[in-house]
Amino acid sequence: MRIGPHVLPNFLAVAPMAGVTDRPFRQLCKRLGAGYAVSEMVAANPRLWATDKTRRRTDHAGEVQPVAVQIAGSDPLLVADAARYNVDRGAQVIDINLGCPAKKVCNALAGSALLSDEPLVARLVQAVVRAVAVPVTLKLRTGPHPGWRNAVRIAQMAEAEGVAALALHGRTRADAFVGAVEYDTIAAVKQAVGIPLFANGDIASPAQAREVLARTGADGLMIGRAAQGRPWIFREIAHFLATGTLALPPTVAEVRALIAEHLHDHYAFYGEELGVRIARKHLGWYTAGLPGNEGLRAIVNEAVTPRVQLEAVDAFFAALERHGARLPSAVQVEGKAAHARPARHETAAARPRAGEALAA
Ligand SMILES: Cc1cc2nc3c(=O)[nH]c(=O)nc-3n(C[C@H](O)[C@H](O)[C@H](O)COP(=O)(O)O)c2cc1C
Repeated sequence: MRIGPHVLPNFLAVAPMAGVTDRPFRQLCKRLGAGYAVSEMVAANPRLWATDKTRRRTDHAGEVQPVAVQIAGSDPLLVADAARYNVDRGAQVIDINLGCPAKKVCNALAGSALLSDEPLVARLVQAVVRAVAVPVTLKLRTGPHPGWRNAVRIAQMAEAEGVAALALHGRTRADAFVGAVEYDTIAAVKQAVGIPLFANGDIASPAQAREVLARTGADGLMIGRAAQGRPWIFREIAHFLATGTLALPPTVAEVRALIAEHLHDHYAFYGEELGVRIARKHLGWYTAGLPGNEGLRAIVNEAVTPRVQLEAVDAFFAALERHGARLPSAVQVEGKAAHARPARHETAAARPRAGEALAA
């Protein structure tokens, strides 16, 4: 699969997830089989660029290429400026966020709220494509709400304006994360355009990956929540698609080592104090459903130093290894489907409240 001049090593991508797909996590996913990753969104508003958060989100030092940066905003000039700013800081692909239903983003008429203003989307796309010499991509949903699905029209407009690839979450904005993913709409978009398309939404196993490819004809798959606590899902899917057989779950020893590696990278990226706090959710995902995880969570959530977290995680996995060499598979472990839980900002808060205009 290609994005402009960039030939990806494979067609499996980790989805942009604010608060999750920071540089350490993207690197880990790429090491474990993802061929592509998109950054957490960066606000188009330049007043926010001086914050530590944006500084971290625009730090791509050492990142496996191509470096793709997502921008959220609705003013074509501001988004175009933000695109230039990020290209100057190493972005090799600019992705425009038309997919995020989060209230914080939609209130400012950005993310998936833009889907209800097609002329504005066209101006936004034109401005960004003209502003930068790198490929521009769109991440979108199928439309504002089930009565108004306009992804095909937006995809065709985007292709005509020079957009290099699309990622389509098969739900409308109003659906947030609820209800079945519309593989038919993804297939219709694939039929309507010639540019590469990532299918996205609820892909959580190798078998689902194969089914989504077959049902949509998409060029690539984009995986979000299922990679939380399970970044090796990319190689599991690649193995299944190549051989038709399921890979064995990773060994406990490997998981123990890669979590330690993730944590060290994480503390170096965020600094110790913030790193320890932000690591808690990853450790919760890594150990969801594993025997003894409550005890571990109590320790890592109380911990204020990397040493305490690292030692607790190491002891946890050493004990787990005594029960068996391999990680219990997701099917064996009740509740392991941590990825099935939408993040806080995407649940009720991300859905329109009763009486709120769906297309707002
Ligand atoms: C915690 C979280 C943060 C997200 N942040 C973004 C974001 O910054 N930009 C974006 O386009 N989508 C964002 N999304 C949506 C995902 O990229 C993806 O479209 C969605 O989770 C559906 O895919 P999945 O079922 O594989 O998780 C986010 C999703 C989650 C769970």
